Amino acid sequence: MFEGFGRNKRRKVGSEEDSHQSKPWVEKYRPKQLDDIAAQGHAVTVLKKTLQSANLPHMLFYGPPGTGKTSTILALAKELFGPELMKSRILELNASDERGISIVREKVKNFARLTVSKPSKNDLENYPCPPYKIIILDEADSMTSDAQSALRRTMETYSGVTRFCLICNYVTRIIDPLASRCSKFRFKPLDATNAIDRLRYVATEESVSYEDDVLKTILDISAGDLRRAITLLQSAAKRIQYTGAENVTSQNVKELAGVVPDDILKMIVEKVSNKNVNDIIEYVNEFTKSGWSGAAVIDQLHDYYISNDEYDTAFKNNVSMILFDTDAKLSNGTNEHLQLLNLLVKISQV
Ligand SMILES: Nc1ncnc2c1ncn2[C@@H]1O[C@H](COP(=O)(O)OP(=O)(O)OP(=O)(O)O)[C@@H](O)[C@H]1O
Ligand SMILES: [Mg+2]
Repeated sequence: MFEGFGRNKRRKVGSEEDSHQSKPWVEKYRPKQLDDIAAQGHAVTVLKKTLQSANLPHMLFYGPPGTGKTSTILALAKELFGPELMKSRILELNASDERGISIVREKVKNFARLTVSKPSKNDLENYPCPPYKIIILDEADSMTSDAQSALRRTMETYSGVTRFCLICNYVTRIIDPLASRCSKFRFKPLDATNAIDRLRYVATEESVSYEDDVLKTILDISAGDLRRAITLLQSAAKRIQYTGAENVTSQNVKELAGVVPDDILKMIVEKVSNKNVNDIIEYVNEFTKSGWSGAAVIDQLHDYYISNDEYDTAFKNNVSMILFDTDAKLSNGTNEHLQLLNLLVKISQV
């Protein structure tokens, strides 16, 4: 019995087909060329020009998560150098690598001053192969400012043979002297049309069957973060495989994303408007026990109050301030139960 189990297991894990199937869809559908990048028209147009002129400035990509920054520079590198030459022409460092000042002094500087490797004849025929290397510093906002300062000189000294591409979510965390050495590209959260097209493409490729409003629900939840959207789609597809259901439904997606159901939200709003503190305490106890996340409630309460015309502007202002305050406290790691209680009681007193 054990033998059978072992054999079975080995076969499954080892098979190539299986590894292909279990690949996260975000990686499987990572854009391979600049043309596949959705929605970032400005950045893509400018970068495509550099493909023809082979003249590339230092670059700074910034914008929210899951909008295509890393994908864009990888696609650009591939189109400039081709898959083979890319190995010797690109140095990619991200937040998982040590990037203190010593690394900048050693690894980055050493790579930056290397002369460029010769492209093969084949590469030269198929790719522009410009005479420089690219150093990609992904998640550059997590580099210490000392390390960033140490880059300044390196960027200038070796600009003959090396270009830098800094990528970050928070552009304000990049020190000014570095930012001013780069062409800046802002990556926007994906707009609904582009994001739906891309999601629909992935869903079709993976033969996911879904009800009409599912893609819209996924987009609402992921707010322009395509990585989150694709991951959600994959989880939902996996789930109906297990449950044997025919279609992915909006309900499935909401549950997977931890969205608080409408009836519970309605209940919270009702308790708040009744202004009975004991009632609120009791309900928050019950609510926390059932495991809903505080952050999700804050988001949804915000949407509810702000978009509801029954409330006047002064009320909305006050409620926003309270929600904002609680959100800040929660991100600092305070007790969720207490914060929720405080939040609801405070709103009830507005
Ligand atoms: N503009 C886009 N066009 C097509 N696919 C995209 C786009 N943006 C994101 N994606 C999808 O989301 C995944 C993650 O994108 P990517 O790694 O480029 O995001 P990022 O902007 O670097 O995010 P982070 O700031 O979190 O590093 C990609 O593999 C791809 O599947
Ligand atoms: Mg990235």
